[in-house]
Amino acid sequence: MKRKRYISVLAVMSVMTALGGCGMQNNFVEEQPKNMTIGISVYDQYDTFISELMSQFQSYVKEKEKDWGISITLEIQNAEQNQLVQNSQLDSFIEDGVDIACINLVDRTDASSIIEKAKTSDVPVIFFNRELVKEDLERWDKLYYVGADAYESGKLQGDILVNECETNFDKIDRNHDGVLQYVMLEGEASHNDSLIRSMTVIQEITENGYTVEKLSDEIANWNRDQAANKMKQFLEEFGNSIEVVLANNDDMALGAIDALKTAGMENSSENWPAVLGIDGTTVGLEAVEKGEMLGTVLNDARGQASGMLELAYSLTMGTKLPKKYQLIDDKYIRMPYKIATKENLGEIQVEQTK
Ligand code: BGC
Repeated sequence: MKRKRYISVLAVMSVMTALGGCGMQNNFVEEQPKNMTIGISVYDQYDTFISELMSQFQSYVKEKEKDWGISITLEIQNAEQNQLVQNSQLDSFIEDGVDIACINLVDRTDASSIIEKAKTSDVPVIFFNRELVKEDLERWDKLYYVGADAYESGKLQGDILVNECETNFDKIDRNHDGVLQYVMLEGEASHNDSLIRSMTVIQEITENGYTVEKLSDEIANWNRDQAANKMKQFLEEFGNSIEVVLANNDDMALGAIDALKTAGMENSSENWPAVLGIDGTTVGLEAVEKGEMLGTVLNDARGQASGMLELAYSLTMGTKLPKKYQLIDDKYIRMPYKIATKENLGEIQVEQTK
């Protein structure tokens, strides 16, 4: 597919009418409608979760323009997985006079240049999704982070399996050795979410009394095709011994499902392992609906998008942040994760399309 330059500028007409002259210019306080311009740089626009997050953001912007009676201009850029590109995107945002920048860091360990540029030009930054270390966030009081608690996502993924084992252990433990043989598909090596999810999911399963055996784990960088390749290799090596597939996100869980299907396995077959993802993307939820995935954990794209916009608005306009978006340590907004299985799928789908 041809990569198109991803600049979407939403210049929406201000709904406030300019105050007309009434011949008494000195006798009234002129209340100018305030507009807001936000520069956003995403690490990779082709990442499924990020692209859903941005759609949610754009639709929330439209809603809020009406509620707030202002116009909001968005400048959205794709950093194409290159930190230097992202650094220069911030330069253009600053030149364009944005009120605030929302940065989905390419390299979460390399935020220095972004922080220095923002500080020098006094442009507040809301980092999102790719969590930087606390020390970096503390380098200036106008730096924020919007995302979710990675520990919670791993724990909830573990809970999905634990809940299923409580009623259906024999079905999952197909070789009846009392041990759950699993493979793991991990996101990027240095990403906070992959590191923590991989650890906490196992902790949660074992703390609930189940014994696991890792057959193998591989990094597939959040990517469906890479995950399909890794899963193909797992299947060649371990075949039907794989009882559980733990993927750090839905796209990789879907890649595993692609490989299972390519290997000729049917979702209804006894050998189909329990596949678990995280994100609750549209395609992820569809796989849960079809029974291909046992469950996923909703990474609340709608909640995070609204948290970013509400925070941007309150910082720009100097207003109070609504209670729902608690600003922890004056820096963090973390939206809760939620389990998504066949049982509550309808509810989750409605929430994300509200
Ligand atoms: C999501 C992944 C996504 C990654 C990008 C994670 O929180 O679960 O699907 O690829 O963020 O940074």
